[in-house]
Amino acid sequence: MIPVKSDRDLRIMRQACAIAATVLDKLCRVAQEGVSTWDIDQAAKEFMAEYSCRSASYHYRWGKLRYPGYICVSVNDQVIHGIGSRDRILKSGDIVSMDVSVIYQGFVGDNTRTVLIGDVGADVKKLVEVTDGALREGISHALPGNRVGDISASIEAYVRPHGYGIVEEFTGHGVGRNMHEEPQIPNYGRYGTGPLLKPGMTLAIEPMITMGSREIYVGDDGWTVYTADHKPSCHIEHTVLVTDAEPEILTLPMDY
Ligand code: MF3
Ligand code: CO
Repeated sequence: MIPVKSDRDLRIMRQACAIAATVLDKLCRVAQEGVSTWDIDQAAKEFMAEYSCRSASYHYRWGKLRYPGYICVSVNDQVIHGIGSRDRILKSGDIVSMDVSVIYQGFVGDNTRTVLIGDVGADVKKLVEVTDGALREGISHALPGNRVGDISASIEAYVRPHGYGIVEEFTGHGVGRNMHEEPQIPNYGRYGTGPLLKPGMTLAIEPMITMGSREIYVGDDGWTVYTADHKPSCHIEHTVLVTDAEPEILTLPMDY
């Protein structure tokens, strides 16, 4: 069952998502050459307190493990779920994704951006542009009467011509009272397949795109996902509301 949100739910979801986006926007300014990913994670903790929300990732359970960070911060060949570290100092040429999920008044807002540090190669800039384009493309298919497969297939069709890898082991997802709700939203698939989309559904759409092979592995910390070939990867995510008409991107920052 894919939850359909009531008007009351949506009022809170909108706030949760705006807060998640604002925290992320502020973190994008923190992420500079010379700053450690630990510093970014600590800043996230402080910003969340400032906006009266808490991290949905902190102590998130996976088997016996509990996620130790407040956000996921993944550098270069780290695809997703990177953990802030004092030893990881950002340097020119790095590509950094920050995945911010917050809980506000019982609802989750989930979003991710990828930023570039200093002088970055044209090939990496292209990777980010294509991932961003793929997300826009996926969002544009989050229409009532469409199916989840329409989102998935449109992302795949957008990415394929560039020859990049599409990570298959992790997907977008429904989001609301829980960070991960039905449906799963793969970044590849077939048009016209999968669950029907209806107004009131809130979806986290999040392409994870690699410059080389799509093959990944999980590191020794039990969380960090790396590209097998250690080439860079990119991850961008929005929480989106399916409406009667055009999709509404909920994770847009407030003025601050
Ligand atoms: N926010 C992530 C997502 O986009 C999940 C975070 S997993 C955690 O689905 F382990 F870091 F919590
Ligand atoms: Co997500």
